[in-house]
Amino acid sequence: MSRPLNILFVSSEVDPFAKTGGLADVSSALPKAIKDLGHEIRIMMPRYRFIGERKFRLHDIIRLKDIPIPIGSASPIVNVKSSFISNLKEKVQVYFLDNEAYFGRDGIYQNPTTKKDYKDNDERFTFFCRGVLETLKRLGWQPDIIHCNDWQTGLIPAYLKTIYKDDPFFRTVRSVFTIHNMAYQGAFGHESFTKSGLPKELFSTDGVEAYGKFNFLKAALYYADVVTTVSEKYAEEICTSDEYGAGLNGLLASRKKDLHGIVNGIDATLWNPAADEYIFRKYDAKSIEAKDENKKSLLKRFGLEFSDRRPVIGAISRLVDQKGFDLVLEVMEDVLKGDVQFVMLAAGDKESEKKFDQLQKKNAKKMGLVLGYDEELSHLIEAGSDMFLMPSRYEPCGLNQMYSMRYGTVPVVRATGGLDDTVEDYAGSGKGTGFKFEKYDSRELLKAIQRALKVYQQPEEWKKIMRNGMQKDFSWEYSARKYINLYKDLLRP
Ligand code: ADP
Ligand code: GLC
Repeated sequence: MSRPLNILFVSSEVDPFAKTGGLADVSSALPKAIKDLGHEIRIMMPRYRFIGERKFRLHDIIRLKDIPIPIGSASPIVNVKSSFISNLKEKVQVYFLDNEAYFGRDGIYQNPTTKKDYKDNDERFTFFCRGVLETLKRLGWQPDIIHCNDWQTGLIPAYLKTIYKDDPFFRTVRSVFTIHNMAYQGAFGHESFTKSGLPKELFSTDGVEAYGKFNFLKAALYYADVVTTVSEKYAEEICTSDEYGAGLNGLLASRKKDLHGIVNGIDATLWNPAADEYIFRKYDAKSIEAKDENKKSLLKRFGLEFSDRRPVIGAISRLVDQKGFDLVLEVMEDVLKGDVQFVMLAAGDKESEKKFDQLQKKNAKKMGLVLGYDEELSHLIEAGSDMFLMPSRYEPCGLNQMYSMRYGTVPVVRATGGLDDTVEDYAGSGKGTGFKFEKYDSRELLKAIQRALKVYQQPEEWKKIMRNGMQKDFSWEYSARKYINLYKDLLRP
């Protein structure tokens, strides 16, 4: 099929409107890349309160006003607003599903002060999923493909295979579901299932039920026409191990022929050291010495002293079990005994934040810490650090290791998921792009950091590793083509 495809991309986070992690980066960069390849792609997401009307130039769409969405026996209403994300070449239209009661809040999934999940996330995202389908019908724009992402969109494939199955508008529509993280499943009680309006018989293990719960992710994995995840290694891991597959590995293994690993790219316009407005001094592979200026500026931000040949290790992360920062807590004091500095930008649960705060206070001359979310600082850390830590317990893809390599910042990673697929372990003689360790064990992490610190002492060798990373092509085009081929395969009669 050579005609341009119509694709609706559905996500609960899209950069720059709403972001808690990599899902937002992907939900903006991938649609842009697909549009650049000549296809019509549009995005739907919830309109959270903080997506400012003026700041993002949202427009009401008169035609898409007061659309009733069946939730249990009620019919709350959705109003649709619109804006664009733009690229150098093309614009991608974004529709925002607005309902004050569900989305007029300060957080995306949780209350930012208490850090507790909203109690009605089941209803909020049921409303979103059904709202997407009802909005499409009103809009009269018929996609060939609905591309859903993560559990918040998980009911869409189930609706398409049941309630909307015989609707002429949806009869030819195919669904693709991308797993960004198996650990977040959206599992709720039976009462939530009732609100969804899905046929009763779906509450079964041959349907949307997993371990007695109504499970949004399970619904997607069961009903989507095709399932993808964000690296080849993670695709393998989630089928074979209970830990990685988070209890749904059996189902995934049974759908293995429909499961594809497609590695994420990076938005090369936003993450480009030669054009990054957030950093102190722009640079590229030919001017890596300029990195030192960024290092000075970074250390100043953290109130740390700069010294020419002293390595700086950086980290930017959500502080959750997945990211492996318990290993960092175990080894960092040892690491900081050497002539090295550590800067970290992270946010997470209060308990983990407290532990890092204590570590920083004990090592105030060598460690800098910002607890919170800061887009600008994240760019400066990528530009000003020498090494970057990602000791993840699991990592579906991971973006920061790729940002790091592009910025000549050498990643030290655990060999799991996308980290294993995108980083090549240093193999001597100027070969490799980073340092990897296999076993989830703090001694292994320590060894990898020590290995990196040792090579850092050989400046010429180190520069080769930096350049190897900077010269890699992590742009989206290659993976975007893979998605397009997958869409085309699905549409073949
Ligand atoms: P995940 O989505 O699992 O958190 P990724 O590596 O895919 O991991 O993406 C994380 C994204 O979120 C990156 O763009 C990273 O820079 C950003 N990020 C994470 N924590 C912070 C923070 N505290 N401040 C700013 N950006 C952050
Ligand atoms: C998830 C994963 C991360 C991945 C991102 C985008 O948040 O944890 O590894 O890079 O989604 O796909």
